[in-house]
Amino acid sequence: MTIGDTQLEQIRSTCATLSKEVSRSFVGPVEVAELLLTAIVARGHVLLEGVPGVAKTTLVKAFSATLGCNFRRIQFTPDLLPSDITGTYILDMRNNTFVLREGPIFANILLGDEINRAPAKTQSALLEAMQEIQVTIEGETRRLEPPFMVLATQNPIEQEGTYPLPEAQVDRFLLKLTMSYPSEAEEKQILLTYAQTPQPVRQTLSPETILQLQQLGDRVHVDDELLEYIVGLARFTREHRRVYLGASPRASLMLMQAAKAHALIHGRAFVLPDDVKTLAQPVLAHRVLLAPEAEIEGYAAQSVVDEALASVPYQRRG
Ligand SMILES: Nc1ncnc2c1ncn2[C@@H]1O[C@H](COP(=O)(O)OP(=O)(O)OP(=O)(O)O)[C@@H](O)[C@H]1O
Ligand SMILES: [Mg+2]
Repeated sequence: MTIGDTQLEQIRSTCATLSKEVSRSFVGPVEVAELLLTAIVARGHVLLEGVPGVAKTTLVKAFSATLGCNFRRIQFTPDLLPSDITGTYILDMRNNTFVLREGPIFANILLGDEINRAPAKTQSALLEAMQEIQVTIEGETRRLEPPFMVLATQNPIEQEGTYPLPEAQVDRFLLKLTMSYPSEAEEKQILLTYAQTPQPVRQTLSPETILQLQQLGDRVHVDDELLEYIVGLARFTREHRRVYLGASPRASLMLMQAAKAHALIHGRAFVLPDDVKTLAQPVLAHRVLLAPEAEIEGYAAQSVVDEALASVPYQRRG
């Protein structure tokens, strides 16, 4: 079944409103909010990387305010335990039974702030939940309520007492966004925005509408030549001489899903090459592992994706 034009136009306009709402408190390119929205529609999670003070937390809070979902936050610290995330069974004295005290993971939108400050065992409690949409607490498995999205922040500067996410775990994130310093004009805009208390961010979606968008996203059409284009980009990263481990077929699949979601939020029922191009960097770069020599030379995974975009042709038939 196709998606009707009226419905598509409504989606486009709601999504544009959402980006505008986010911009009430986050100053920056509109694409940032669009990427977060793309991720939730594609049922993915996002890793935000950036130095302190570039509005990672501000962005996540503004975005989640637009969703009308149950939002929780976990500040990762070195002494955080897995049960601080998932929850624990406590004895209910009234009837002498154990009841689950749910941890913050039982949320729709979970902000895992400074995820690299907790040890691996605690990080993996979160990562298991991201993969399975369920948690195991003392041997008992509990489903999480969809929509479920983790937005984790990470500081790229390796400090004492940080535990950078292992590559295999970074792979669990659909998108990795690198937040950089604002431009001069943006920085002035930040000061202007916060000279007075800014208008609060308003809710534009709801858990139900998000689930609906996720289902519609599945129905977005991808042409054969675009599938070939995606495969071509992934293969390029695998064959690159400076790459130790390139993008896997899972990465191609994620790029396709993200492109479909990106098309939908822009009011289209079909993917365009531009959807794929916009998403190539945030989907692929963090899944490309460079050879050690390349890393020493200061070469970055982003450059490999840039080269892929510059040299893999998109071939239109007919
Ligand atoms: N682009 C921006 N738009 C709006 N506010 C900004 C922006 N950049 C910085 N700020 C302001 O700077 C302050 C710090 O932002 P925030 O706490 O979100 O940063 P952070 O990246 O989460 O930092 P940390 O890594 O220390 O947690 C906030 O008051 C925020 O409003
Ligand atoms: Mg923060």
